[in-house]
Amino acid sequence: MAWRNGGRGSTNVQSGRGPARSRNPRSARAIPITTEEPNLNASAQLAAAVVPAAGRGERLGPGAPKALRELGGVPLLVHAVRALARSRAVGLVVVCAPPDGVAEVVSLLDSHGLDGKDVRVVPGGASRQESVRLGLAAVPAGTRVVLVHDAARPLVPVEVVDAVAAAVRAGAAAVVPAVPLADTVKRVEPQPSGPEPVLDTPDRSTLRAVQTPQGFDLPGLVAAHERALAEGAEVTDDAGLIERFGGRVVVVPGHEEAFKVTRPLDLVLAEAVLARRRATDGY
Ligand code: C5P
Repeated sequence: MAWRNGGRGSTNVQSGRGPARSRNPRSARAIPITTEEPNLNASAQLAAAVVPAAGRGERLGPGAPKALRELGGVPLLVHAVRALARSRAVGLVVVCAPPDGVAEVVSLLDSHGLDGKDVRVVPGGASRQESVRLGLAAVPAGTRVVLVHDAARPLVPVEVVDAVAAAVRAGAAAVVPAVPLADTVKRVEPQPSGPEPVLDTPDRSTLRAVQTPQGFDLPGLVAAHERALAEGAEVTDDAGLIERFGGRVVVVPGHEEAFKVTRPLDLVLAEAVLARRRATDGY
């Protein structure tokens, strides 16, 4: 399936790239797939989740863009949005779709039950970082806690979502779920081909593999993204931006099932995890 433009609602979508970033939910550049206006007082207490889903997923091999690949007959993106919607801490989910695939994502999400949560779709950008920045522009200004969750992590357990949101609510400015590493890691001098010289071996006990959702105080994350844009700083995760600008990031326990679906083998593993959940938990 290819991302395509057209279809229900697509004509209402603005590009999301203009300078006038609105913090007003009524003028946010997003398609609400629910018709109800959010109750702002209530929703300000709840976390908003931004889901970057605009990647092509080339490492997964040829086929549909990654977020549309199916896991147990359901697109990865729908699993990821459901995983967030399952959390009572989350009131709004903003999905960053490929710029040419917004209408398709809207109808895809519309056709799956999403626990009555407010779900909006905005056009993403050319990099993950740009997609997140555009997604943040659709989060109502009064929101305190924002979670950023990769569409490529479809099976994150709700306990992880809850724990990250709770740590931000308790006062942490930036929270990342992470797990210890099974493999020893070596830092190398990358070479275009041939053996790569090893520089050193970090002490494995101090290393963590970082997952999502990562949680933030909204104004702090928005400011970090704006500064990164102004300075041309590029990082691979949102907490990395907070670190780069001197902020404090803390780690909470992640979960082995919150792994990122990147390569074909990850899809095989994800199918096995999902089959086990469906057999044992009625998932
Ligand atoms: O490429 P990677 O696996 O690191 O992507 C992580 C997440 O960022 C994925 O959910 C992907 O869809 C998203 N992404 C995005 N916009 C891009 C590139 C990646 O939203 N331009």
